[in-house]
Amino acid sequence: MEDEKVQWSSHISFILATVGSAVGLGNIWRFPYIMGKNGGAVFLITYLLLIAFICVIPLCCELFIGKKYKTDTIQSIKNINPKFKWVGWLCILTVILIPCFYFVVGGWILNYIWLFLSHHIPANFTQYFGAYSSQIYMPVILTLLFLIMTAIFPYRGVNDGIEKANNIMMPLFAIILIILAIFALTLPGAKEGLLFMFKPNFSHFDKTMILTALGQALFTLSIGMGTILTYGSYMKEKTNIAKSAYQLIFFDTLIALLAGIMIFPIVFSFGVEPTAGASLVFISLPEMFSKLPFSSFFGLVFFVLLFFASITSGISMMETGILSFIKNFNISRKKATIILTTIIGLISIPSTLSFGVLKDFTLFNKTFFDLLDYSTSNILLPFNTLLICLLSGWCIKSLWKELLGENIFGYIFNILLKFVVPVILICVLVTGI
Ligand code: TRP
Repeated sequence: MEDEKVQWSSHISFILATVGSAVGLGNIWRFPYIMGKNGGAVFLITYLLLIAFICVIPLCCELFIGKKYKTDTIQSIKNINPKFKWVGWLCILTVILIPCFYFVVGGWILNYIWLFLSHHIPANFTQYFGAYSSQIYMPVILTLLFLIMTAIFPYRGVNDGIEKANNIMMPLFAIILIILAIFALTLPGAKEGLLFMFKPNFSHFDKTMILTALGQALFTLSIGMGTILTYGSYMKEKTNIAKSAYQLIFFDTLIALLAGIMIFPIVFSFGVEPTAGASLVFISLPEMFSKLPFSSFFGLVFFVLLFFASITSGISMMETGILSFIKNFNISRKKATIILTTIIGLISIPSTLSFGVLKDFTLFNKTFFDLLDYSTSNILLPFNTLLICLLSGWCIKSLWKELLGENIFGYIFNILLKFVVPVILICVLVTGI
């Protein structure tokens, strides 16, 4: 069958691709803010402990399953236990739903790149963003354009498309981020910005903060939908799973911190309230960029940075769905890409419109866009992760031995996997709902 012997051509390509998947909007528009708001350095230490000892477990499981069965999410899970094949389908459902809101943001990014490229910088970004996102045609067209751009790379194959995209975009991403962060540190608000982000504040240390840190760690590592599993299935035989997992965690966290070092000095230099999400990225930051010298240059570079971050994540989502379509429907890569792109395109349209004509079309008090975001991030991702951990721990008896050997690390891993991590994930799920 097609794609049988596909492998990353080097370890660096594998790491760049997984880092490309993990580093996305979550690192830039969410992590810095929740770190600053939830106790600074205290949050950082909690986050590091959680990601290094808890989230690393499902991460290793996905990599292990991918490497062992060398096939898509659904077939891999069927190989573990045929009764649980539906868990694989649930992962694929998630990987189809996430792009339907994630790519809407991708479309906005394309629009802002165009704004700064063509020097059409609006006077008031609050007004502009509200007006733009509620339009009908342009946002939909750009969402679909972003979708097609993410589909081109997997369409061309793993080595010729996905690997090349990440090998070029991720180093460029890192260079732009470092330059912007260094520039930000020369601004007058640098000290205040860094204090906002890093200053330890123990008063936030409670259950809510721990759960916030956990939710963020799970989302940012792209686990719970078979993406890491899929990328892991192209791993070389000699690749060490635990080491790769920690490399991924290291780079993902480093980039999230650099993003904060870039953002907060700018925010505090202009004396605006720090925020997160769409209002930070599409309103406050561009507003401030437009006041800097060489405004269109900085604006442009920043949105190109966001574009790289989001498209490399998008590519990994597409590939997860595509490989599953190839293996389960026995179709070609090209056909699988076209089918998946069509499905996501159709669902993305109402999602894009939920900022305008479909604003009042709500369910549980949420627009279609919010509903997609909420149900995937808070319910499906932790639920899938829980099931993957339970399957790995209780159905692949030798996982911990093969992964770490019969030593103290192996025993600890086994206990964490079978008992501790599932209990924690259930807590995340219950509070998320
Ligand atoms: N990790 C991505 C981010 O930080 C978001 C994400 C969640 C993701 N699950 C994913 C990306 C699966 C790719 C595949 O923005």
